[in-house]
Amino acid sequence: MTEPTLFAISDLHVGHRENRAVVSALRPRGDDDWLIVAGDVGEVFADVAWALGLLASRFAKVVWSPGNHELWTPPADPEQSRGEARYARLVEMCRNLGVSTPEDEYPVWDGPGGPAIIAPLFTLYDYTWRPPGTRDKASALRYAYGTGVVCTDEALLHPAPHPTIDAWCDARIAYTESRLKALPADVPTVLANHYPLVRDPTRILRYPEFALWCGTDRTAGWHTVHNAAAMVYGHLHIPRTTVHDGVPFHEVSLGYPREWQPRGGPTPLREVFPGVQGVGRDSAR
Ligand SMILES: [Fe+2]
Ligand SMILES: [Fe+2]
Repeated sequence: MTEPTLFAISDLHVGHRENRAVVSALRPRGDDDWLIVAGDVGEVFADVAWALGLLASRFAKVVWSPGNHELWTPPADPEQSRGEARYARLVEMCRNLGVSTPEDEYPVWDGPGGPAIIAPLFTLYDYTWRPPGTRDKASALRYAYGTGVVCTDEALLHPAPHPTIDAWCDARIAYTESRLKALPADVPTVLANHYPLVRDPTRILRYPEFALWCGTDRTAGWHTVHNAAAMVYGHLHIPRTTVHDGVPFHEVSLGYPREWQPRGGPTPLREVFPGVQGVGRDSAR
């Protein structure tokens, strides 16, 4: 019998034909395998529903955390809801598929490496990961616009009803912290978020200014405070594992075809539990 495995992947970006083919071929190893999908499934609502529906039909459990791309409102998408309303539509779609979201009770993994509470998070960013020499959000954005490195979120990710993304982030942090604080202290967690909980993994971005749109200082200690056995994230499109305070942080992105094709093929599903010590692991950072 195959040992149950907790897998993770992110940044499926199924708007790309080649990525759609990769997702069509994703299958569990055994009947009891779970899959964490850490955001950026696609941009168009129907594409996201297609991919999560397919995965939910194959894996025993799918746990989803939203990426910035799902939350965009592309002008050509028939689904034109924005901001929190769009997030609510995504959550509703997931619930209809049986996919766990950050709004649901956190499922408990009882397979190898467990028990562990699998907590999908949705925390956004608040422009605190600023370029050196900039002192606040306004000066950091001025600097970024000056370099030409500006995330498309600025045009397509609407924060409504919040005035800004950082205000929405503030609300998400309060909600998420209250959920995490209520968990039993003696059960380890797997924290799954589109964004890394610490800034360190962004240091190797080709365009460091992009870190502005990658997370918040306010999640920095969560992996130790909330007893994480592992952290799963995406968004950076730099698949690797780094270790922070003894906790493995897995960046599990598939990424765009132009990113994975030169590597000789798509990164396979990443194994969180039981996990393979030392394989694909970068040095501690
Ligand atoms: Fe992405
Ligand atoms: Fe992203």
